[in-house]
Amino acid sequence: MSEALRIGIAGLGNVGAGVVKVLAGNAELIARRAGRPIVVTAVSARDRGRDRGVALDGIAWVDDAAELAARDDVDVVVELIGGSDGPALTLARRTLAAGKPFVTANKAMLAHHGLALAEAAEKAGLPLKYEAAVAGGIPVIKGISEGAAANRMLRVYGLMNGTCNYILSRMEAEGLDFASVLADAQALGFAEADPSFDIDGIDTAHKLSILAALAFGARIDFAGVACHGIRSIASVDIAQAAALGFRIKLVGLAEVQDGALFQRVHPALVPLDHPVATTMGSLNAVVVEGDFVGRLFFQGRGAGEGPTASAVVADLVDIARSDVRPPFVMPVSQLAALPRAAAGDRRGRYYLRLNVADRVGVLAEVTAALRDAGVSIESLVQRGGSDAGDTMVVMVTHEAREADVLASLAHMAASPAVVGQPVMMHILDF
Ligand code: HSE
Repeated sequence: MSEALRIGIAGLGNVGAGVVKVLAGNAELIARRAGRPIVVTAVSARDRGRDRGVALDGIAWVDDAAELAARDDVDVVVELIGGSDGPALTLARRTLAAGKPFVTANKAMLAHHGLALAEAAEKAGLPLKYEAAVAGGIPVIKGISEGAAANRMLRVYGLMNGTCNYILSRMEAEGLDFASVLADAQALGFAEADPSFDIDGIDTAHKLSILAALAFGARIDFAGVACHGIRSIASVDIAQAAALGFRIKLVGLAEVQDGALFQRVHPALVPLDHPVATTMGSLNAVVVEGDFVGRLFFQGRGAGEGPTASAVVADLVDIARSDVRPPFVMPVSQLAALPRAAAGDRRGRYYLRLNVADRVGVLAEVTAALRDAGVSIESLVQRGGSDAGDTMVVMVTHEAREADVLASLAHMAASPAVVGQPVMMHILDF
């Protein structure tokens, strides 16, 4: 068997410790698959004293992560520090400049600097691998770039944030509001102390921009992802969606329409029989639709020690086999700079909910706003009255232009008969 591939790991949190455990626990099997042993020779982490539940004997400790790049006993650097810039980016640049392969789980860094790093890797003929960056343990990067390489992709979408899926699942199962489930998730350690990247959809947007680049052969355009998170999801909408046969999920969706790239993260109503709707708790799901293969559905753990480490080690196995290819499947110079699609022209069905004063002619006013914008109603339900004298109206539109639905909503919101802000959500119809 060939010489061992020697790994330096920057960041020894759950995932870093997980990588050490996987490489030790499955050492023999991995060596047979990789054609050579893969061993950790150096690590870098802030707190040396912490018990991580792994044996680190014989592994060198380095204070400054960037030093890993220059060490003679490190062939490959694994970056698990996180953050789009700072030490992670410095380490990525230094590793590639030192002529060594680089593995990362850092979607934020790739969303912002992925193309520049990929160019550096290509120029040096080095692997830059990131299976763990999108949907954790689910091999969706390999799925798109290898398994489905024959296809023109129609769309890629799914649930790429376990925290949001967990919160929405518990809101539905327990009838709780967003704030109380978030507080509980934080107390249990499922959600970060600062959960904004998760719940505001930014984490999903990072991942979506990477998948879109791979799926469509396009340059990463993170700034082009329209992003709306789950903070404003109300229990009443979860219940009304269920009554209509849908479940609300935070969906990241990318499509190419008439040569323009549409990328959006938003809460959407997913039909209950769709596999994305049945993906509950902290699980992730990614759907890729190709012109020949049809719908591919990937489901699994998008975070956590074991699943994320599994994806990191899969990248290391490729590197051990000397598998070098452009990080975004084709060279960066061949990726298309697609224009951004105008969201207003997008067609789809919409869920609308509004509270209105319970008096003569109100429904006529509401439906007139839709009629005037050319939006047709598929179903309309008025649900009881409240002590305050208002009543809830829930509607599903036929397929309509998004701009027209928004125009009708603006009309409704301006009416004195409408109480509070109307709610609008997309329906996932594919
Ligand atoms: N915070 C992410 C999630 C995992 O909740 O899914 C890492 O991307």
